[in-house]
Amino acid sequence: MTRVVISVGGSVLVPSLDAHRLKEWAEALINLTNAGIQIFAVVGGGGEARRYIEACRDIGLDEASSDEIGIQVTRINAALLIGALKEYAYPVVAESYREAKTAAVSGKIVVMGGVTPGQTTDAVAAVLAEEVGASMMINMTAIDGIYTADPKKDASAKRHDILSPQGLIDLIMKEKMCAGSNMVIDLVAAKITERSCIPLVVIDGRDPALIEKALLKGEFAGTIVGDSLIRFPIV
Ligand code: UTP
Repeated sequence: MTRVVISVGGSVLVPSLDAHRLKEWAEALINLTNAGIQIFAVVGGGGEARRYIEACRDIGLDEASSDEIGIQVTRINAALLIGALKEYAYPVVAESYREAKTAAVSGKIVVMGGVTPGQTTDAVAAVLAEEVGASMMINMTAIDGIYTADPKKDASAKRHDILSPQGLIDLIMKEKMCAGSNMVIDLVAAKITERSCIPLVVIDGRDPALIEKALLKGEFAGTIVGDSLIRFPIV
């Protein structure tokens, strides 16, 4: 069975508790499952994680301890997604790659959040993709691809259709790494993508239906990172 790891940004799943999109996301992931794809969803912390991390800074907490709080928020969001997926999901949030692999034996959607400080859930998704032999890792966040520069700051920024893993690493190296950081992909994820040779795809996560369009209908818009060719639809 084709396995796909999806990094669902908290910024698109639970931007805030009163503006969540849990039902829409659950519907999209269930449709992919019904089409015969085994889904692993790695959930981010979103706006709530950033608000907790701000509070950590207010009280003078170090970055790694702030990351630990961020991880707890990702796991709460993961538990919310499991709730929305109902019987389609393995009922417990995987807290390690081993737990995720064990949960996958059920054939249900496996959901996890963060794992360790100093990275984001993108890195978790990249490692998980390696460990479960996924055909691709998909990053769904609040932007429609990887740009030559931050499009919010630079109006001349252009979206990459295809980017090599090294090209991605070069782009990321210009950014600063800190708890709650806003990079499209983190450096650890980019390095894992380089070594695993598993393609990384960035799709706009603000509309959960776009992942179905890409994987099931072949209507893809976004950025592909990798040297190998991907053909959409994948099933
Ligand atoms: P993410 O950065 O992965 O969630 O985790 P996000 O910001 O919601 O994702 P996007 O931007 O929408 O795609 C939130 C925070 O949790 C900590 C980091 O501080 C991160 O910024 N974290 C998460 C870790 O320290 N380790 C992990 O493995 C995951």
